[in-house]
Amino acid sequence: MSSEASVREATWEDTERALFVLHQSITVSCVADHGGDPQTLAHWLGNKTPQYFERWLTEPASAMFVAELEGAVRGIGKVTRAAKLELCYVEPGFERRGIGSGLLRALEARARSWGLATLHVSSSLAACAFYARSGYESAGPPVPWLGTVRCYPFTKRLTPSGT
Ligand SMILES: CC(C)(COP(=O)(O)OP(=O)(O)OC[C@H]1O[C@@H](n2cnc3c(N)ncnc32)[C@H](O)[C@@H]1OP(=O)(O)O)[C@@H](O)C(=O)NCCC(=O)NCCS
Repeated sequence: MSSEASVREATWEDTERALFVLHQSITVSCVADHGGDPQTLAHWLGNKTPQYFERWLTEPASAMFVAELEGAVRGIGKVTRAAKLELCYVEPGFERRGIGSGLLRALEARARSWGLATLHVSSSLAACAFYARSGYESAGPPVPWLGTVRCYPFTKRLTPSGT
């Protein structure tokens, strides 16, 4: 069995696992952001539902990828034609194994194929070091989101070669 995650486009069959990963990652790995506040958490998880997942799969203005490792989906990412990296989440317990980087490569490649020259992301506090390490540059002060949470804007200029 490969020790490297394989990344592919998401399908409706991924709904249950992808939503599980999103819920776990936000609840467990983003505590520094939501602080365990039930209202904030409920708001953050509010659109992580089968209905929204189906909508994301079918909207032509975005692309969604999943990363599989050890026989299951462990990560999920989404990018839009409006140059926004909207999701990049890895299952708790599977971090620091290149899953997030694999997702980013696929998301950036898709953005490049759309002719986009830059990507923007509103990072969680939990993911700032990951984006900084992945070539994203801070693009301004933190922005309030969901009351108690702050988002950290980052931007990356996409080179044609993907380096
Ligand atoms: C952020 C996240 C997607 C990174 O995924 P990952 O699979 O762990 O990332 P990778 O293994 O590809 O890490 C690549 C590099 O980024 C850096 N990095 C990743 N996570 C880091 C952390 N918590 N602290 C410091 N550096 C980190 C490291 O340099 C790492 O390389 P290394 O492990 O060889 O040192 C994942 O930790 C996660 O899901 N976090 C919670 C959800 C979240 O906040 N998502 C972003 C929403 S905007």
